[in-house]
Amino acid sequence: MAVTRRLRLLVIFLATVRIGACSLLLKDTERKPRMIYPHLAVKRNAEHYSSFKDPSYGRVGLKNSAQKICLLVEMKGRLVLHRVGATTYDDKEYIDDIPDLAVSNNAAISGHCSPEDDRNKDAELYIEWLSERNRNFTYRLALQFTANKTKQKTTGLDEWRWELYDVSLELKHLNHSIVGVGKKKAEINAPILQSFICKDSMNVTLVGRNGSTPMNVTLQLAKNMKIQPFGVLSAGGYGITYMCKKTRDRSLVESLRGQTTVVMGVILGIASVGVIMGYGTKRQFFPNQQTYQVFQ
Ligand SMILES: *[C@@H]1O[C@H](CO)[C@@H](O)[C@H](O)[C@H]1NC(C)=O
Ligand SMILES: *[C@@H]1O[C@H](CO)[C@@H](O)[C@H](O)[C@H]1NC(C)=O
Ligand SMILES: *[C@@H]1O[C@H](CO)[C@@H](O)[C@H](O)[C@H]1NC(C)=O
Ligand SMILES: *[C@@H]1O[C@H](CO)[C@@H](O)[C@H](O)[C@H]1NC(C)=O
Ligand SMILES: *[C@@H]1O[C@H](CO)[C@@H](O)[C@H](O)[C@H]1NC(C)=O
Ligand SMILES: *[C@@H]1O[C@H](CO)[C@@H](O)[C@H](O)[C@H]1NC(C)=O
Repeated sequence: MAVTRRLRLLVIFLATVRIGACSLLLKDTERKPRMIYPHLAVKRNAEHYSSFKDPSYGRVGLKNSAQKICLLVEMKGRLVLHRVGATTYDDKEYIDDIPDLAVSNNAAISGHCSPEDDRNKDAELYIEWLSERNRNFTYRLALQFTANKTKQKTTGLDEWRWELYDVSLELKHLNHSIVGVGKKKAEINAPILQSFICKDSMNVTLVGRNGSTPMNVTLQLAKNMKIQPFGVLSAGGYGITYMCKKTRDRSLVESLRGQTTVVMGVILGIASVGVIMGYGTKRQFFPNQQTYQVFQ
């Protein structure tokens, strides 16, 4: 009777430890996505790309002439204008929202994907919209992506990665146009064929090109930005997810906290097994003593 009870406790304890270990493993694979290097189809004709909106999934993107999706993005954000030309907005914050790309008629998407056989080529996405605040303003945000072969820091192996290497904003006011280029603050990159996702918000500072009209605008990307400019799955979906550094660091801290809980559980478990066994041994040697009240 008492032995089965003891066994049952032990089984529960072991199961708890197993579940803890499993959830740790799951978190680990989420942090370090698998690397894949599939062969890309060969195609060398000049392509035409069209845009599409997918309100049910809140995403937009580009399709090639064969109607295959080749770029996917879910992006919400706003522009904070600090300075445009001679106008300084520092004292009164000037914020202009980017319309919801997937539903708004006020935003247009265009661009091109990288030819499927050439990873060195760029992919580009343009987002154009009429300012919500001042109907005389038109914004044109250009995101340029490139894929490069880089050496992995940890293994020294060559790895194909894509990255957002240029962001520029063109602000058209009547006949004037001011262009600002991105200062890389947000590191948006991932292994090729993987999608980039960030569960934290990101800022990209856009300043006027050297010698041009001054501009200082912050592009604030809302959390849960998701983008895949290369290697969209043939079914039209995102590939494996690659988390931005900030989210990865944050979940590492959270998982370490989780690990501490498991370690505490193991210690408590061992302690309680020790107690049970201790009582068992005691009972064997002192069979007359009633030491089981605690467990009954
Ligand atoms: C837009 O431009 C027109 C013509 O220059 C001007 O009359 C109007 O006040 C401007 N609107 C805003 C909101 O600046
Ligand atoms: C990737 O290639 C582009 C042009 O091909 C270059 O401008 C960029 O600096 C490269 N990035 C890295 C990280 O090597
Ligand atoms: C804009 O440019 C066009 C021709 O380039 C000109 O006819 C028009 O007057 C200009 N408008 C303003 C407000 O400067
Ligand atoms: C982005 O900029 C805003 C305003 O300057 C700031 O409040 C926010 O903390 C910044 N976010 C990040 C992730 O740097
Ligand atoms: C801007 O251009 C000038 C002259 O061409 C150069 O001396 C200066 O270093 C440049 N500044 C930056 C920030 O590139
Ligand atoms: C842009 O404006 C912000 C806010 O006023 C300021 O902190 C930053 O230094 C400015 N950057 C440049 C390059 O002027």
